[in-house]
Amino acid sequence: MLKNKGKELFFAQSLLLSSILLSCINHAHASVTSAFVRLEWPSVDIPLDNEAFAVPKGYNAPQQVHITQGDYDGKAVIISWVTPDKPGSNQVRYGLSDGKYDFTAEGTVQNYTFYNYKSGYIHQCLIGGLEYDTKYYYEIGVGNSARKFWFQTPPKIDPDVSYKFGIIGDLGQTFNSLSTIQHYMETGAQTVLFVGDLSYADRYENHDVGVRWDSWGRFIEQSAAYQPWIWSAGNHEIDYMPHMGEIIPFRNYLHRYPTPYPSSRSSSPLWYAVRRASAHIIVLSSYSPFVYNTEWSVLQLKRPDLEPFLDELIEIKPEHVHHRFSVHLKKLESWNYRVSNIHYNISSGSPFPTPDRSAPIYITVGDGGNQEGLAQRFKDPQPDYSAFREASYGHSTLEIKNRTHAIYHWNRNDDGKRVPTDSLVLHNQYWGHSRRRRKLKKNHLHSVIVNFPRSESGREG
Ligand SMILES: *[C@@H]1O[C@H](CO)[C@@H](O)[C@H](O)[C@H]1NC(C)=O
Ligand SMILES: *[C@@H]1O[C@H](CO)[C@@H](O)[C@H](O)[C@H]1NC(C)=O
Ligand SMILES: *[C@@H]1O[C@H](CO)[C@@H](O)[C@H](O)[C@H]1NC(C)=O
Repeated sequence: MLKNKGKELFFAQSLLLSSILLSCINHAHASVTSAFVRLEWPSVDIPLDNEAFAVPKGYNAPQQVHITQGDYDGKAVIISWVTPDKPGSNQVRYGLSDGKYDFTAEGTVQNYTFYNYKSGYIHQCLIGGLEYDTKYYYEIGVGNSARKFWFQTPPKIDPDVSYKFGIIGDLGQTFNSLSTIQHYMETGAQTVLFVGDLSYADRYENHDVGVRWDSWGRFIEQSAAYQPWIWSAGNHEIDYMPHMGEIIPFRNYLHRYPTPYPSSRSSSPLWYAVRRASAHIIVLSSYSPFVYNTEWSVLQLKRPDLEPFLDELIEIKPEHVHHRFSVHLKKLESWNYRVSNIHYNISSGSPFPTPDRSAPIYITVGDGGNQEGLAQRFKDPQPDYSAFREASYGHSTLEIKNRTHAIYHWNRNDDGKRVPTDSLVLHNQYWGHSRRRRKLKKNHLHSVIVNFPRSESGREG
């Protein structure tokens, strides 16, 4: 959830981020706090016998099917599913038309225990060598229990390719969560950037922790079996429960939600990067046993090809707070309004924000619908670096149009309806003005800038 505690930490950490991901914002605008106050629905989890968690028909039928990107550039997927009764087949059959599967791939299977809960058989299968921008059909399971799904691969990496992401965090498994997922599916967005806190199964005890991880897997299948969800871990994934003898962090999460971390040369599934269409996505976790600064540098600086139009950063804070979806609009400026405008003075190391138009935009999304209810208390008065805030459940979309334009929308769940309440057009100033480029250079960012393709500099007046 989005709360105000922990802000200081937020800023201190961003100092480093800003020093790497240069971003340009042109104007500061008046702050807005939405007057919307949602009617309180009970934030209770959907009962296990509800159809939202229905177990698929057939003996040992695959359930909890979900996919994620399987490589760095989007030509692979990892397909995961669970068979409840016995290991069954690890095979995925796939092809270009429904019911005609010219290819097969073999995955792996594993199971684990969590206190007195025994998991089903968790299958993971990497499918590589896919064509870009192509619809693939796939089938898993055998005989009467076989199940069919499909997914669309992203277009080839290109700064001008249009692509629409969804942004969801703190989802849980309440009726609010169900609204969020249903509204999200109406948007036509193609990939979910999931900013942490998946099932909230850690609010349960003993056997039920595992049971609620399973129900959540069945709950998200309606979307996650058909399009990748790019995972990052939150505090509710830690599942540190010493009273039950469970002291290894992330055990449930890591068994169930694989990530393509080796392809970005990360040593941990909690930290990785992928490129998809026109975006470069960097996933971080403050909970992993790595030094924050070190890992961040590795993720960013190891890539010689820093040209992607947009960097998106997902970060999870220790204690109290949150998830921050940071659109690090590298060389972007606000074209319209409602833009957070934060700059960190790199040379002084000041942890306090001061206005600067070369700062990134920070967007905090964390109200998918979980049991903890809404965080309604905002800092008063609204700080001038805060452009818009609203206490409601919902999700966001980020639609990248081309190298110069992207559109961000916040969609709240308003008593069953999807209501777009905040939007923002982002204009990439990098592609427009050499003046700003020189300015960035002056800000000690030369080493990053020189990596940009020479051919583009001709576009700058
Ligand atoms: C995994 O499944 C096998 C076969 O059913 C079983 O013998 C084993 O105990 C299970 N392992 C764990 C860790 O639950
Ligand atoms: C940044 O900090 C340095 C060192 O404290 C100072 O000299 C400089 O004026 C500051 N720049 C801005 C833009 O505040
Ligand atoms: C980029 O997208 C914006 C918004 O759709 C459009 O107005 C603009 O013409 C596009 N630019 C190019 C070069 O296609």
